[in-house]
Amino acid sequence: MDRHRFGSTNREVAVIGQGTWEIDSDDRASAIAALRLGLDLGMTHIDTAEMYGHAEEVIAEAIIGRRDEVFLVSKVLPQNASRQGTIAACERSLARLQTDRLDGYLLHWRGQYALEDTFAAFEQLQRAGKILAWGVSNFDVPDLEEALEIAGQGRMACNQVLYHLQERAIEHAVLPWCEAHDVAVVAYSPFGHGDFPGPRTKGGRVLEEIAAAHNATPRQVALRFLVRRPSLFAIPKAATPEHAAENAGAGDLHLTKAELARIDEAFPLGPRPRGLPTL
Ligand SMILES: NC(=O)c1ccc[n+]([C@@H]2O[C@H](COP(=O)([O-])OP(=O)(O)OC[C@H]3O[C@@H](n4cnc5c(N)ncnc54)[C@H](OP(=O)(O)O)[C@@H]3O)[C@@H](O)[C@H]2O)c1
Repeated sequence: MDRHRFGSTNREVAVIGQGTWEIDSDDRASAIAALRLGLDLGMTHIDTAEMYGHAEEVIAEAIIGRRDEVFLVSKVLPQNASRQGTIAACERSLARLQTDRLDGYLLHWRGQYALEDTFAAFEQLQRAGKILAWGVSNFDVPDLEEALEIAGQGRMACNQVLYHLQERAIEHAVLPWCEAHDVAVVAYSPFGHGDFPGPRTKGGRVLEEIAAAHNATPRQVALRFLVRRPSLFAIPKAATPEHAAENAGAGDLHLTKAELARIDEAFPLGPRPRGLPTL
């Protein structure tokens, strides 16, 4: 499993991690077996959120006795992200996860509270050792600029954003901004949340051909494309050990420049949305 340095932290984190949204509606034994096998195979970045119902409790069971292996990330809901509310939300997540610390704690998306308040709470939690790093999610460039202005360089570890082959909008401005400011970019819904290109589509056929050349699968090829730069990570969600094993296989797959260019062409970036600032 390849690792990249996680933004401004000094942690080396697995390029392929494990998402957990809706994992509490899956068969519990299978979901726990998937998470554990994922850890065995190096997918040590586990992503969750207070929003994900009972997912944090499923993770707690999966990581019993293995906490030190895990890069554990949770998120505060915007409606809880006041100065005191963020602290209280973090304590609740720690209790559900049965741990004394999070490796990352993120603002799930921007809401009504001032970023100053949320970030002050993050800094307080970090000083107390309850979180080792903090970041944001679903931030566009104007939000990132504001966050940087408030927090200063080197504080915000990551921005977790929607990124998959059929949705590459972050490449226009968010990704370059994050790279310029040493902020890790974590791709969520890397399979499009169940909308993966099928084998009969033009793009799907390209993935099949490249996969065949590596004795790999189209999903492994897709994941690898998404983590092709040192700033990038992906967190596919899997509820079965078979899916987890397949996803982990992307962690040491290496694609040639020509193959990356073919994928780039098969899943075009699309025009720059109007109104996006130029970097
Ligand atoms: N920050 C945010 O706002 C935000 C938003 C969305 C998601 N996220 C995070 O990102 C994670 C991933 O995104 P996602 O859950 O939306 O979707 P996803 O990872 O793009 O796709 C998950 C779907 O793909 C299936 N799958 C996974 N591995 C597979 C494989 N090897 N073969 C066939 N099917 C496979 C899963 O099936 P099974 O479940 O049956 O294995 C599930 O139906 C979330 O779980 C969450 O942690 C964050």
